[in-house]
Amino acid sequence: MRWVSLRTIQPNRVLAQSIFDERGRVLLARGMVLSSRMVERLRRMGIGSVCIEDTSTDDLQTQGVVSPQTRQLVLDATYRSLRELANGTYSRVVKPNRVKRQLRPLLSDVIGQLKAMDGAGEHLGTVYVSGGDLYHHSVNVTFFALGVGIAMGLTEEQLIDLGIGTLLHDVGKLKIPESILKKPGRLTDEEFQYIKLHTSYGYELLRAVPDLSTASAMVALQHHERINGSGYPKGLLGEGIHYFSRITAVVDVYEALTANRVYRNAYLPHHAFELLLGGGGTQFDPLVIEAFVSTIAIYPVGMTLLLSTGHRAVVVRSPQKQTQRPIVRVIEDAEGNPVPVPWEMDLSKELTIEIVGRES
Ligand SMILES: [Fe+2]
Repeated sequence: MRWVSLRTIQPNRVLAQSIFDERGRVLLARGMVLSSRMVERLRRMGIGSVCIEDTSTDDLQTQGVVSPQTRQLVLDATYRSLRELANGTYSRVVKPNRVKRQLRPLLSDVIGQLKAMDGAGEHLGTVYVSGGDLYHHSVNVTFFALGVGIAMGLTEEQLIDLGIGTLLHDVGKLKIPESILKKPGRLTDEEFQYIKLHTSYGYELLRAVPDLSTASAMVALQHHERINGSGYPKGLLGEGIHYFSRITAVVDVYEALTANRVYRNAYLPHHAFELLLGGGGTQFDPLVIEAFVSTIAIYPVGMTLLLSTGHRAVVVRSPQKQTQRPIVRVIEDAEGNPVPVPWEMDLSKELTIEIVGRES
């Protein structure tokens, strides 16, 4: 299997991974043959790439650390919790204990799967239709944050509270009009001031639920604070920001940079990392950055890369300490023709070759 762009995909390729809608329901199942009409439809839905079966990479397995079933359950529970919170279904009188009761076993399951992870992992490239970004974003941020939390040695209870905070960190956005949230192009100052309010709105919504810890609610309030005081809403400094929020700040920015958004295309993962590293010590907690780098594969197995030589190559291994320079299998020459015999290359040894693009 490998990831390919829908702009360059050939007709009648077989899907190697299902495509989900914004609620996590299967839209197109694995094994389906993609007709040109389907490709067109997917592109119109805002999907950029899909995972296909491919003879030169048949031996590769997707490296998703959290099982698709678990991801789907978490996504569904997140969708329901966020909606119910924003619609005020939860109050001190109505079902006060449901949020944590609902999310705890799912998060325990995710934590277990992440702890069992061997080496850097998690390809978060599962394809979903755009428009549901809030939910997928929240779930991705949570998986990243829990990975960091585990690397930093948090206890199970702390991880659960962190996970609840990250799943719900943007709940305040449901109180902001979509016309502002999804506006392509620049926001006016006034619109940006409005968007900033999602932090305090979220905090108020979460504080109103008695079974949620203050630390979880803090994530909603402080995830846009920066350790040099340049963040919002309060411009807090360093350790004045709760450590859950310092973790969330890093993974939230990373997820936002690497996902396709209405207003721009995704950054390459290593560029997103460079931006974060540049901000380590100024905007972001360097200990969090260090833990994050150790937990994630920047170029996960199956990702198709474009090399400075013009070749197209697929990531076959992403060693934990070398995730910026993975081992790749070259499958197409500079003219776009399949190479007769694919060969493998360790980019950590081929330092003159640059990664100039990726599909997915
Ligand atoms: Fe946010």
